[in-house]
Amino acid sequence: MAQVAVTKERHPGETRVALSPDAVKKLVAQGLTVVVETGAGVGAAFPDSEYAAAGASIAADAQATLAGADIALMVRAPDAAQTAALKSGATLVALLNPYQNKDALAALAQAGVTAYAMEFVPRITRAQVMDALSSQANLAGYRAVIEAAEAYGRALPMMMTAAGTVAAAKVFIMGVGVAGLQAIATARRLGAVVTATDVRPATKEQVESLGAKFLAVEDEEFKNAQTAGGYAKEMSAEYQAKQAALVSTHIAKQDIVITTALIPGRPAPKLVSAEQVASMKPGSVLVDLAVEQGGNVVGAVAGETVDVNGVRILGIPNLAGRVAADASALYARNLTAFCGLLFDKEGAFAPDFEDEILKAALITRGGEIVHPALKPA
Ligand code: NAI
Repeated sequence: MAQVAVTKERHPGETRVALSPDAVKKLVAQGLTVVVETGAGVGAAFPDSEYAAAGASIAADAQATLAGADIALMVRAPDAAQTAALKSGATLVALLNPYQNKDALAALAQAGVTAYAMEFVPRITRAQVMDALSSQANLAGYRAVIEAAEAYGRALPMMMTAAGTVAAAKVFIMGVGVAGLQAIATARRLGAVVTATDVRPATKEQVESLGAKFLAVEDEEFKNAQTAGGYAKEMSAEYQAKQAALVSTHIAKQDIVITTALIPGRPAPKLVSAEQVASMKPGSVLVDLAVEQGGNVVGAVAGETVDVNGVRILGIPNLAGRVAADASALYARNLTAFCGLLFDKEGAFAPDFEDEILKAALITRGGEIVHPALKPA
C-alpha cells in the first residue's frame, strides 16, 4: 500500500496546503496511507485534528513526514531540506513553477525524485478536474477585485441617496484568461462599470457575455494571437504600441485597473506604462496579478504597495493564498484526481508512463530533467 505525504509549505507567506481533510479521507478510502506534517493546514484553517479524524497520521516534522513517502504532494517546490528528506525513487507532485525554478528541478533530479508539475497538465477535457492553474487563477481573479475594492476609497456600485449620487467605479481588466474572467464577474457583481482587453479574439465574446465592454486593436495579428493550446502569443512591438495608444486614453479615466496577462514560458508583457499610471486620478488603484512573473504594470513591486502621486499599485503575490481554505480545497481536488493516474484500484503505486497527462507533466525521472522544454542543452 502506497504512502502519501503532505508537508507544511516552506515558501514565505504560503498559506495553502496540498491536501484538505476531505481529500485525505478520499485517499484513505482508496487504501492509501496518508501522513501530514503537524501544522500543515493551519494557514488554510485545517487543524491537525481534522486530518487525524480523516484518517491521516500526524508527523512531527518534514523529515518524519517524508521519510517513508512514495508520493509527496506539495503546493510549491520543496526547499533543499525537503528534497533531501525524499527517498530516491519517490514521486513528487506540486506547482513547481518550472520555468523559474531550474535549481530546484536540478536538485530534485539529482535526488532521484520523479517530479510532476501541475502547471504542465494539458488542458484536455479528461484533465479538467486536474487543472490547478485554473482553480487557483479563478480565486486569484476574485480576490484581486476584493483587494482593489478595499484599497479604493470610494464605493463600487452606483448609489442614489438623499444626500446625492455615488458614481459607479470604472474597472478595467487587462488579460481575460481564467483570472480575468472571474475578475470581470466579481467586479460586475459589485456593481462596477467593467471594460476588458485581451489579445486573443475568443475573449471578446466571453467579455461581452459577462456584461462588460471589450476594447482591443482588432487587426490581423490579433486574429492569429491564440496558439493551438489556447494561450496567447508574444505580440510584436508594433502591436503593443498600437494597443498602448488605444488603451492610454481609456486608462486615464479608470478607477481600478486589474492586470492578469501572462505568456507561458515568457516574462509577463508590460501593459501599463509609468506615463499611463501617472495619468490616473489620485485614489485610483492598480492590481498586478502578474507581479511574480515580472509584472504587467511598470513600477509594480512584488509584496509592496507602490504609491505614485496618490495612485496605488498593489503587487500582492499569491492572491489565491488569501483565499487559502478554498484554494487548498480546490487544489486538493486537482491533486487527488491526478493521483488517480498514479495508483491502481487497490491503492498500489502503478503509474502508466504512457498516459498523455503524466507524460506532459513529467519533469524529472531517473536522475535527470526529462521534460523537453526544460532539458539542459
Ligand atoms: P494565462 O494565465 O496564460 O494568461 C492570462 C491572459 O492574458 C490570457 O487570456 C492571455 O491571452 C492574456 N494576454 C497575454 N498577453 C497579453 C497582452 N499583451 N495583452 C492583453 N492580454 C494578454 O491564461 P489562462 O488563464 O491560463 O487561460 C489561457 C487559455 O486557456 C484561455 O483560452 C482559457 O479559456 C483556456 N483554458 C482552457 C481550459 C480547458 O480547456 N480545460 C481550462 C482553463 C483555461
